[in-house]
Formats: sequence, C-alpha cells, structure tokens
Amino acid sequence: MLTQSRLNPQLDAEGKLQHLLSTEGLPLPVITQILDTAESFLEVSDRDVKKVPLLRGKSVFNLFFENSTRTRTTFEIAAKRLSADVINLDVSRSSTAKGETLLDTIDNLCSMHADMFVVRHATSGAPFLIAEHLKRIGRDDIHVVNAGDGRHAHPTQGLLDMYTIRHYKKDFSNLTVAIVGDILHSRVARSDLHALRTLGCGEIRAIAPKTLLPGYLENLGVKVFHDMNEGLKDCDVVIMLRLQNERMNGALLPSAGEYFKRYGLTPEKLALAKPDAIVMHPGPMNRGVEIDSSVADGPQAVILNQVTFGIAVRMAVMGILAGN
Ligand code: CP
Repeated sequence: MLTQSRLNPQLDAEGKLQHLLSTEGLPLPVITQILDTAESFLEVSDRDVKKVPLLRGKSVFNLFFENSTRTRTTFEIAAKRLSADVINLDVSRSSTAKGETLLDTIDNLCSMHADMFVVRHATSGAPFLIAEHLKRIGRDDIHVVNAGDGRHAHPTQGLLDMYTIRHYKKDFSNLTVAIVGDILHSRVARSDLHALRTLGCGEIRAIAPKTLLPGYLENLGVKVFHDMNEGLKDCDVVIMLRLQNERMNGALLPSAGEYFKRYGLTPEKLALAKPDAIVMHPGPMNRGVEIDSSVADGPQAVILNQVTFGIAVRMAVMGILAGN
C-alpha cells in the first residue's frame, strides 16, 4: 500500500507538512493552519520587537538560482524574525557556476548543518528533486520550501494570495475570482488555482488570449474567457499576471501595445467588476503592459499589502515545518 508520504512527498507519514513544494494536493487543514498561523505573525509584525525565538539555532539556506526581489527578501526577513541564522548562497559565485551538480551542492550544505532550504530554480521540479534526494540520504530532518520552480509552482505566493483574499473578503464560497493574463507560463496562476479550489472558491475564471491558456484548466473547473469585458463582470477579486516573456518560445502575441488594449487592466475595465473588487498582482509588474498605473496605484489595489502579508505567510510556513 502506498504511504501518504509517497503519494504526496510534501507530507510525512502522519500527514504533517514535511516540505512545501506545491499547493496541489495540500490538504485544506494544512492550508488553514498556515493562514491562521500567518494571522498571528502579522500581529507580531506590528510590535516594536518583531522577533520570536521559534527558529533559534536553526540554519536556513536561501538558494535562489533565478532572479527575485520579493520572495528572496521576504523569506530572509521571515527567517530572521523567527531568529534563524540565514545564509544567502550567492549562486553566481557558488560552485554550481563551475559545473557542480545541484545535488552535490546540496550534499555540501547538508554537511554545514542546514535545517531548511528555500529554493528558487528555473527548472520545474528542482525542489522536488532535492526533497527526494534528502529522503534517499536519510535526511528527513531537513525541510525544503519551493520559492518558485519554472512554470510549475510558487506555493508561498499562492498561499499569500489566499491570505490576502481571506483578509479582505472572508468567505471563499461566495466569491468570483478572475485570473488574467499569461496563465500558460505562470507558476503563480497554477498555485492560486489549486489553492482556490481547495478553499472552495465559488467561481474561478481565467481570462486570456487562446495562446496563453494551458490545457489543464478544464479539469480544474475553471471558466475560460477571451474577452475582458465578459470575464471581469461582477468579479470580487482580479488577479493580474505578468507576461512571462522569458518563458515564451516564439511569438505568442502581436505586440505589447495590442495586448494592453485587449487585456491590460484599466479603470474602465475594472469598473465592470464589483465596486469593492480588489486588484492583486504577484509582481514584478509591467505598467502599461498588463496593468495601467492608475489601477496599480489606485484605491482597489492591494498589491503592496500582498508583499507585507507574504512575510507573515512565510514565517508561518517555516515555523510549521520546524515543528513549532
Ligand atoms: N512574486 C514573485 O515571485 O516576485 P519575485 O520574482 O520578485 O520574487
């Protein structure tokens, strides 16, 4: 019989979080535990003394093999607020730049008494590979957090997005959430979609040109729209996505200007959603490509709040993984 941990490598045999690799297959009680724990950490963030000793004596290694502003920095802040020692591997100066394999690098960091790896990698599946390797070498005491792998998953972004939605809208069951833009190449969209389904979101919409839609949406019960005016009607939450030009093979769009005309979020298009709809974006934003500045900086945007919530959510994930 397959054990829980073989079916879902991010859970241990008792169904507790061992690694955070994806929102896909993450049980509702685990998601709720992360969001509730994040809420308590947000209160800590408002105090003069922001540190708690939950990860005192633990070493968290940030391994970012791909560029990042928000995720890398907020993981570092989160780990420091939990009193961990944080080591940021400078990938451009590390031995992987000299040809060392990823797993040889991991073995060496294990020998330096690592307790947690936070991994961003351009290759889908790299954090899974590391988690499997740790199991194989008997290092179940070391945890892996996926900080974004290729097109596959960005679970802490998905969870901070869920935290943001719950913060402003409370109950998922009555909500209509639209995800707009380059869904095909977006690990954020995939992580959001799985988490929204698990949390029982009333209606999930995908709005994009045909060339930027993945095939897996049908299986997730997502309603697909190619027209912003139809798709945005009466939405409660609008999640805008960046055009992932670095992941596109060949021309999938006529031009950035044409894309903005059809799929860019302007005040006129936003007016079709509910008057109290919130606008989200994982960043980095391309103003004038997927979102107009007057919307990005407007009263319905909660984009910078997402970043703040991200610290609390990442504290929650690391605290739960460390067993605290
Ligand atoms: N949202 C996000 O992952 O941003 P960064 O690439 O800056 O980490």
